[in-house]
Amino acid sequence: MTAYRTGLGWDVHRLAPDRPLILGGITIPAELGLEGHSDADVLSHAITDAVLGAAALGDIGMHFPDSDPRWQGAGSLLFLAHARDLARSRGYRIVNVDSTVILERPKLKEYRDAIRRQLAATLELDVGCVSVKFKTAENMGPVGEGRSAEAQAIVTVKSTKGRELPQRPSRLLKNH
Ligand code: C5P
Ligand code: MG
Repeated sequence: MTAYRTGLGWDVHRLAPDRPLILGGITIPAELGLEGHSDADVLSHAITDAVLGAAALGDIGMHFPDSDPRWQGAGSLLFLAHARDLARSRGYRIVNVDSTVILERPKLKEYRDAIRRQLAATLELDVGCVSVKFKTAENMGPVGEGRSAEAQAIVTVKSTKGRELPQRPSRLLKNH
């Protein structure tokens, strides 16, 4: 078994009036919020998929189908905590998270520490192991035109199941 593994996550949600803008569980004052079946926390969704991906446990829609009324309006930190527990049950401990939110406005940097603290508490990590970055799309495309927000995440996990097994030596194919 490999000692370290990584997982990748990405998500997008449409921006709409009369919806809250929730990123990493933190509600941010804004004219437009994110639309979706759950609370549409695009950052938590991307990180959840990255955790699931690192442990090869499928994706968020497999565990929390948006056709299931149980998840209507659900707080997405619940999904994240569930992914953490699933990964843990398979013997994977989360090492660190890096992420980027791509949103034209508002400016998010003053909320960075609150978001990091919330995500770290949910993932049961030191805040120093959770990175959250912000970018605009420079007025280009649906994100740049203020119609949507995206998030990307990468997560490293470490196997808690003993030592890494030695790799099999590669063999040259015969008859070549
Ligand atoms: O997209 P751009 O490179 O212009 O972003 C510059 C900086 O602005 C980012 O590094 C980030 O710190 C900040 N930013 C932000 N909120 C956003 C987008 C960017 O605080 N919605
Ligand atoms: Mg989503």
